[in-house]
Amino acid sequence: MPIPKAELHLHIEGTLEPELAFALAARNGVELPYADTEALRKAYLFEDLQSFLNLYYELMAVLRTERDFEDLANAYLARAAAQGVRHAEIFFDPQAHLARGVDMGTVVEGLWRALGDSETNHGISTRLIMCFLRDESADSAMETLEAAKPYLHRITGIGLDSAEVGHPPVKFREVYEAAAALGLRRVAHAGEEGPPAYITEALDVLGVERVDHGLRCMEDADLVARLVRDRIPLTLCPLSNVRLRAVDVLAEHPLPAMLDAGLLCTVNSDDPAYFGGYVGDNFDAVRSALGLSVDRLRELARNSFVASFLEDDEELRAR
Ligand code: HPA
Ligand code: ZN
Repeated sequence: MPIPKAELHLHIEGTLEPELAFALAARNGVELPYADTEALRKAYLFEDLQSFLNLYYELMAVLRTERDFEDLANAYLARAAAQGVRHAEIFFDPQAHLARGVDMGTVVEGLWRALGDSETNHGISTRLIMCFLRDESADSAMETLEAAKPYLHRITGIGLDSAEVGHPPVKFREVYEAAAALGLRRVAHAGEEGPPAYITEALDVLGVERVDHGLRCMEDADLVARLVRDRIPLTLCPLSNVRLRAVDVLAEHPLPAMLDAGLLCTVNSDDPAYFGGYVGDNFDAVRSALGLSVDRLRELARNSFVASFLEDDEELRAR
């Protein structure tokens, strides 16, 4: 039995497996520039975040209807359930779909067709987190928040993803303020490829409650002390960090040092179809590459519920 855990850093578009991509391409009459799933998998050799994002956005062309988003989410939930996930806080990237003429309602209601029945069908409670693309303008983020207003009963929070360097958190101050006023929870990717100062800025300017990745906090001792003191959770994604070359090899991942420093770390899969594994695979990989004890793995699983947006009573039920 895998350890029960919550997954807090998961891009639903990053769960698009090659087989499903080709099935949806056929269903929607979309032509993919790859001969077959094997040729597609061969393209999964990334140099950095941007080289991954290019493929990630390209493959989204196959997602067109509510049913596509429903099938995508159900495929993820089934795999996650098999790896012990009891609760999932799921990112989606509406701007990448709006830009292709797929509207907000198609995305959110399509995902909800799977998420709404997920506790019954998969034993997983869920939350949706809408991410803004940080390489798009602040105005575009604000328009996206506006477009989401009819669907806010389905959306728990906002996040910030896509190309990090050159797009500091401060660019999104106003949209985060507007989202906070609407009662949305706030997270942001920071310190994946960007400097530790972006983590500090995400806390100070955007008011984030949780930092996605946050890996590079280890370069700033004062920041580490603050994150420990304020119990700010970090959603780490070890296999992603290797595939996107944020760390050279898993054996050199700073996770053990981060836990020793007292940081509230969680382990997640990010974009599992692209990075070689779902969350249980990430747990297995850090156990074998980093020699983490069973107690450490249990601490990581416990942290995932503590760091979640579940209320206390829900959290206890989910564990
Ligand atoms: N980082 C930034 N943006 C992303 C990622 C990531 O790991 N995955 C999907 N969008
Ligand atoms: Zn991510």
